[in-house]
Amino acid sequence: MEKREELYAGKAKSVFTTDNPDLMIMEFRDDTSAFDGKKMEQLDRKGMVNNKFNAFIMTALANAGIPTHFVELQSDNESVVKRLDMMPVECVVRNISAGSLCRRIGVEEGLELNPPTFELFLKNDALGDPMVNESLVETFGWAEPAHLATAKELTFKVNDVLKKMFDDADMLLVDYKLEFGVFNGEVLLGDEFSPDGCRLWDKETREKMDKDRFRQGLGGVIEAYEEVGRRLGITF
Ligand code: TMP
Ligand code: ASP
Repeated sequence: MEKREELYAGKAKSVFTTDNPDLMIMEFRDDTSAFDGKKMEQLDRKGMVNNKFNAFIMTALANAGIPTHFVELQSDNESVVKRLDMMPVECVVRNISAGSLCRRIGVEEGLELNPPTFELFLKNDALGDPMVNESLVETFGWAEPAHLATAKELTFKVNDVLKKMFDDADMLLVDYKLEFGVFNGEVLLGDEFSPDGCRLWDKETREKMDKDRFRQGLGGVIEAYEEVGRRLGITF
């Protein structure tokens, strides 16, 4: 796949056009961001680790019948993906209370959430990714109602697949964020799934193995990501 010009650079990834107008190359950089870009650092090996981690998870999800934008690995830190028309919202499912949920409604961290919750956030760094809902998505035309309904259904389907996958590898999938887009009228899972966009705890010790290590300055960020990968059988 021939890489052409940069189309867009986010806080941790860049996307490039290719010789095929339907396909893009997504480059995972070593840049690590938190708090809507207020905390930024370069972490050695992160681009490579997240690229291979994402390829593994996207392939597993596709095998479980969840349509994704992932096509193939292009290099250690790049993947070929379908070019989607992205919905500017983040879909978050939580199995255990943590993060912004605890701050917002004043509950302690670590409560089992039954049934798991579903939240929507508008992608807007300047506004700090405010929480929105289905009604706002429809009124402001961020996505067609039917497309949003499919995204929600797929977000829960991902939970069924990944909760079990992490549990089998002695980890708890606490929560995660997904982004969706439309390709030829079909809703596909886009963006990435990596320890940057989810919370994972060791099942026994509840030690944090995800980007909260970076957010909270706990250290050992990439070592933890690699340990998650090792438990899942990923070779970096
Ligand atoms: P939160 O507790 O900060 O709302 O985050 C919930 C989950 O979504 C957590 O796994 C981190 C992920 N997330 C992102 O990946 N990007 C974001 O911009 C936000 C707000 C959350
Ligand atoms: N990914 C977002 C950022 O870079 C939010 C976060 O993960 O804390 O700021």
